[in-house]
Amino acid sequence: MSDTTATTFPVLSVLDPLEFSMQQVEKILACQVDGWRSPLEAALANLISCGGKRMRPMICLLVGNMLGAESNPLLHMAAAVEMLHTATLVHDDLVDGSALRRGIRTLNSRWPAAATVLAGDYAFTQAARLVLGTGCMPAIDLFTATMSCMVAGELAHLTQQGDLPGQEAYFNWIRAKTASLFELAAGAAAMLRPVDAGSVWAARLFGEKIGMAFQIVDDVLDFTSHPNELGKPVGHDLATGVLTLPALLYLEAHPADPDLHAITCGEKLPGPALDHLLARICTSGTLAASLDMARTFIREGLKAADTFPESPERSALEALAWSVVERKK
Ligand code: IPE
Ligand code: IPE
Ligand code: MG
Ligand code: MG
Repeated sequence: MSDTTATTFPVLSVLDPLEFSMQQVEKILACQVDGWRSPLEAALANLISCGGKRMRPMICLLVGNMLGAESNPLLHMAAAVEMLHTATLVHDDLVDGSALRRGIRTLNSRWPAAATVLAGDYAFTQAARLVLGTGCMPAIDLFTATMSCMVAGELAHLTQQGDLPGQEAYFNWIRAKTASLFELAAGAAAMLRPVDAGSVWAARLFGEKIGMAFQIVDDVLDFTSHPNELGKPVGHDLATGVLTLPALLYLEAHPADPDLHAITCGEKLPGPALDHLLARICTSGTLAASLDMARTFIREGLKAADTFPESPERSALEALAWSVVERKK
């Protein structure tokens, strides 16, 4: 494993067998965005090479290897999901007005919005080329459906701002923007060989549940971590009026909190008021409650994985699943 992966998942020596395949995935990714055409492509190449946990391609490779997928289409599928992830990050940072990603300045903090959108689009097209390289129609179909789902989910979230958010809307939002990509990573890998529909269904369900947990933990880390560790801003969700699960649970318990109420009305809180609100949420018990919900999703994912063939890959998938709630970045 790369240094980054080793530090992020210190307990996952079970992932060692993936080292060679992951190196090949990195090569495929680097070939797609080699950075000689423009400074923006160079920035994209830098974003790809400067870290990232590579959760999605690892899940893809493990499911595919477990079910006996052919190597070349599987490597391309794994690279495609990581490239799609990269494209969504570029656009997400622009939408969120975020200045830091993977410890370096975001494209949107260095270039105009138009250039950033185009760089993201470029990554989307490269992801599409990679998935076409698999030659697997069901996987290509799932890939395009996933893209639609992610974009539709973000659009729905943008347009519903102003309504008082609830848990159901939150879960629908994270299912669309994050869990669908994990579902693609696992499900498309299962589609690369003619297996029974049951395996595809189980792989998709596994990916979806792990993805739900992954986003909940990301939302908790936005309250608890530090930019140096996370490589991206902290406290950013609440500061920009985005209510995630810890804040929603707090709102349910304290519906009259004037500061949170102000945020739900689109007001920007002054720094000290925001700090106090963050502190109230952090000491309210909703972070632990959110992590409990993440663990429930992991258990649901592992139940789907019960049907996977007993194998080292299945053990690695189980360890990877638990690492989602234990991670610090
Ligand atoms: C960030 O994903 C976006 C979310 C879905 C929360 P990761 O936390 O996997 O980002 P990298 O790839 O490791 O940088
Ligand atoms: C995930 O949500 C965004 C995508 C699916 C691209 P966040 O907005 O919380 O992700 P980060 O925190 O910026 O990585
Ligand atoms: Mg963001
Ligand atoms: Mg986040």
